[in-house]
Amino acid sequence: MDIFCDNAFAGKTIFVAGGSSGINLGIAMRFGAMGARVALISRSEDRIAAAAESVRGTGAEAVGIAADVRDYDAVASAFAQVAEKWGAIDTVVSGAAGNFLSPAIGLSANAFRTVIEIDLIGTFNVLRASWDHLRKPGASLISISAGQAKRAIPFQAHASAAKAGINNLTETLAMEWGPAGVRVNAISPGPIGDTEGMARLAPTDEETAAIKRRIPLRDYGTKRDIADAALFLASDNARYITGVTLEVDGGLLLGDASADALTLPERSR
Ligand code: NAP
Ligand code: COA
Repeated sequence: MDIFCDNAFAGKTIFVAGGSSGINLGIAMRFGAMGARVALISRSEDRIAAAAESVRGTGAEAVGIAADVRDYDAVASAFAQVAEKWGAIDTVVSGAAGNFLSPAIGLSANAFRTVIEIDLIGTFNVLRASWDHLRKPGASLISISAGQAKRAIPFQAHASAAKAGINNLTETLAMEWGPAGVRVNAISPGPIGDTEGMARLAPTDEETAAIKRRIPLRDYGTKRDIADAALFLASDNARYITGVTLEVDGGLLLGDASADALTLPERSR
């Protein structure tokens, strides 16, 4: 069952940063299938052109623009081009990210800075550059966070710090931009199958199985799960929701729900 009717987003424009693959492309495809016009940016000219082509396959209008989120002027120019073409922008998704496993002592200053620049500064650039082109009132901004922002994971000092910054930025912008009728939220995906992120963080079947054993709902999520949360946050059904980071993670952030953890100790039986 779909809670949204066909073409629920007809006449709306969505701008997705980091939209050439994975979760963000999944969001773009879902909004396209719901009738939205879709603009995508990422670093690679070829990858973003191919992504726009796949979104057009849903029947949507789509445009792909090469822009690095670390380059404010490039991001601002992409927004200006999209607004010129389609008018005010209704939904912005800021999901460009870079990540890899490394102990903190294996990170050079440049490695740490690179991830902060893509994830956190990139998100500021995207949200800030969107401002002049947003539908006001009515726009919905959605950043893509991660569970590491709230619960530390070894070998993720760079990504955890960046995503924690995104959560806080979400709250501050929600306060500052709420009076203009702009809602600012984030989605924190749990482990999502068939993505570059999980290929990097848990590349083996054993690691995948070990993670699934700890998740209360016992499985990885799908790109569709994240896209559906984005549809909700972008819709009028979420008109009174701002400043939240919505966990879509099968309960993983609650803690270890493995069979061992849920077994009552012998002494208490
Ligand atoms: P992905 O396919 O690698 O997506 C990352 C995207 O960001 C790509 O489209 C990449 O395209 C773009 N990108 C990277 N650096 C960029 C830059 N400097 N400027 C512009 N675009 C840039 O990875 P994913 O696993 O789907 O992750 C998508 C989002 O979900 C990320 O924010 C990630 O942190 C978050 N997340 C993922 C998971 C998971 O399970 N996969 C869990 C929690 C959170 P180009 O290479 O073409 O630039
Ligand atoms: N361990 C430790 N350091 C690493 C690393 C790793 N696995 N991978 C890269 N680095 C370091 C580099 O050595 C470099 O530091 P140095 O100059 O001191 O040597 C620094 O990070 C920047 O690397 P570079 O390759 O120049 O950056 P880039 O801007 O071209 O690429 C990355 C950014 C590193 C994040 C790259 O992995 C990327 O493009 N990722 C996008 C896709 C992705 O990560 N998807 C998952 C999203 S959750």
